[in-house]
Amino acid sequence: MMTREEILHHLTAPSAANLFAEARQIRQSTKGNGIFLRGLIELSSICQRNCLYCGMRHDNPKVHRYAMQDDEIVACAALAAQLDFGTVVLQAGECERLWTRERVSTLIRRIKAETGQKVTLSLGERSEADTAEWKAAGADRYLLRFETTDRTLFNQIHPGSPQTDEHPRVAQLLRMREQGYEIGSGVMLGIPGQTLDSVVTDLLTFQTLQLDMVGLGPYLRHPETPLGQSALTSEVPVSVDFTCRCYAITRLLLPNANIPSTTALSTLDPINGRTQGLSSGANVFMPNLTPAFYREGYQIYPGKICVIAPQADSLDALKATFTTLGLHQQNG
Ligand code: 5AD
Repeated sequence: MMTREEILHHLTAPSAANLFAEARQIRQSTKGNGIFLRGLIELSSICQRNCLYCGMRHDNPKVHRYAMQDDEIVACAALAAQLDFGTVVLQAGECERLWTRERVSTLIRRIKAETGQKVTLSLGERSEADTAEWKAAGADRYLLRFETTDRTLFNQIHPGSPQTDEHPRVAQLLRMREQGYEIGSGVMLGIPGQTLDSVVTDLLTFQTLQLDMVGLGPYLRHPETPLGQSALTSEVPVSVDFTCRCYAITRLLLPNANIPSTTALSTLDPINGRTQGLSSGANVFMPNLTPAFYREGYQIYPGKICVIAPQADSLDALKATFTTLGLHQQNG
C-alpha cells in the first residue's frame, strides 16, 4: 500500500529518477519487454456533449465534422491486423444517434469475424443496455476516463452531468466490469482548478477500481473552448516530467495494468514524450489508424500529433524507439 503522503512525495520530490527506475523494473517483471500496440480509429468528430476543455465540443463551429462509414472502419481494423497489432480502439465523439446500439454491435461482429482483432470501445457515457449488447456482440474492453475524482470540478467542466453522489463515469465503469469488460479509465493532468491533492485521490482511485488500463495525459489548452479561453490555472503542472511521474506511480499501484504512453504526452513534447513515457512504466502505445483525410477533424486539443501507421517510416520510427529502449512490439 502506498500512502497519500508517499504519493505526494513522488509527485513533488526534486528528482524522480528512482521512481522511474522502480516503475521500469516492475513493468519488466510483469510485462517483460513487450509493448502492445492498439490501433486507434477515430470514428467521428460529431459530438453531442459540450465539455468545457474539448475542442470537439458540440458548440465549436470551427470543427470539421465527419463520420466514417462501416466499411472504412473495418478496413482500418484490417490494417491493424496486417501490422500485427492485436487490438483496435473504436473512439468517437459521444453521439447516440450515430453510434446506435445496433450499428456498433454489427461493427464489433464484423471486425472480429473479418480481422480477428480484439475490440476496445471508447464511445463515452452510454446506457447499461447498450454496453451489455456490445459485450454480447464480442467487445473486449471499454475506455472511459473519469477525468477527475473532484466531483465539483467534474460537474463544472461537464455541463449537464447528473448531480448524483456517485461519479457517473465511475458508476458506468463498475457496471461494465460486472458485464465482463476489461475496464480502462484515467484523467487529464493540469485541468484548471485541479489540485495536487485531487490527483493523489485520482491515482489511489485507479487502484481502488483495480483498473485493467489507465490512460493519463496532460491537459492541453484548446483556444476554441471555454476552458481554453479562461484565465484559470492549475497547481498541477502540465509537463512531461509530471505526467511520467503519474505513469510510474500508477505502475507501482497497479503492477499489471496496461498503461499507454499517450498521444497528449507526445503532443506536449514530440521529440522526447514517448521515449520518456516508455521509460517510466508505460507498456502500451496507440498508433492512430484513422484515415489521414479525416484526422484534422478530430482535434480534441490543438497540434495533436499522430503516428501515421500506414506510412512505414513513422511506424519504423516507433519501432526504432522501442529498440533503443530494449523493448519490442508485442501482439495482444
Ligand atoms: N487536453 C488533453 N486531453 C483532452 N481530452 C479531451 N480534451 C482534451 C484536452 N484539451 C482527453 C479526455 C478524453 C480523451 C478522449 O481526450 O481525457 O477522455
